[in-house]
Amino acid sequence: MISELSTIIDFIRYGASRFGGAELTFGHSYDNALDEATHLVLHTLHLPHDLSPAYGSAKLTAVEKKAVLKLIERRVKERKPVAYLTGEAWFAGLKFKSDERALVPRSPIAETIQNGFSPWLDGTVVRRALDLCTGSGCIGIAMAAHNPDWRVDLADISDKALSLARENIHFQNVEDRVRAIKSDLFAGLKGEVYDLIVSNPPYVTKQEFAALPPEYAHEPALGLTAGEDGLDFALRILDEAPGHLSADGWLICEVGEAEHALNALLPRLPLNWIEFAVGQMGVFAIARADIVKHAKAIKAALAKRR
Ligand SMILES: C[S@@+](CC[C@H](N)C(=O)[O-])C[C@H]1O[C@@H](n2cnc3c(N)ncnc32)[C@H](O)[C@@H]1O
Repeated sequence: MISELSTIIDFIRYGASRFGGAELTFGHSYDNALDEATHLVLHTLHLPHDLSPAYGSAKLTAVEKKAVLKLIERRVKERKPVAYLTGEAWFAGLKFKSDERALVPRSPIAETIQNGFSPWLDGTVVRRALDLCTGSGCIGIAMAAHNPDWRVDLADISDKALSLARENIHFQNVEDRVRAIKSDLFAGLKGEVYDLIVSNPPYVTKQEFAALPPEYAHEPALGLTAGEDGLDFALRILDEAPGHLSADGWLICEVGEAEHALNALLPRLPLNWIEFAVGQMGVFAIARADIVKHAKAIKAALAKRR
């Protein structure tokens, strides 16, 4: 009986059981039912996300119970990612606004940002950085927040995503160093040169897209799909990045499962696949000089697809 639920811990436990029982898909910010339920309950109660466990036995009022149960049921019935239900997501230790205008922030690049891009940028002076395909702005804004002397541009083709990114620029108080620019990849960035370009472009293949769980249907398809092999964007980025990178500049790009297709297509390209705490996650780092050395092969691979 739901009326038996009383404390914060009761509701977190109930939410997690409900989510697990309904076989929801996790991975949009949290990778398990318990963490999702914790976020949802604490957010609804206006409590800090790192609340001391000592408060777990605190009781909810009738109004609070109703509000928490409503969101738990919406998560189960609508299969909406919890970030869209609460309107917020955490990324690289920072809080961001999150809604259907852009993908829920979840890139493993957060870890790279928090590690100071080591070893890739060790010894490189970064003045300007670009977050290409920025969505909510999470990657670029986190880069700016963690590096107070960097100026960062955020670029996306979607007006809706850019409007959310601008809200997040304001939310994180980085207006003086971060700007959001409408651009089809590099087309709107003529003459701009960066020491670092980071991108989490769309990379889901047509086949994968058709099989995605219902949670993904709430996200803009424009942020996910990338042709037959998931490389439609990554190849264009590799082709055009040297024109926007300084001589010692680096490109860091996420391609997820399309890593295998990229390795097969350009086997000699010296991509450094980044090792995260959980292993490889389909994110490569490559120096401008190495892209330039293989520019012909990249162009040839692109030409074959046109
Ligand atoms: C996978 S999402 C990544 C969003 C964000 N960087 C993140 O990590 O949460 C890809 C983003 O690329 C944008 N996009 C799609 N096509 C684009 C294009 N041709 N030029 C620029 N951005 C594009 C989408 O609007 C979407 O916001």
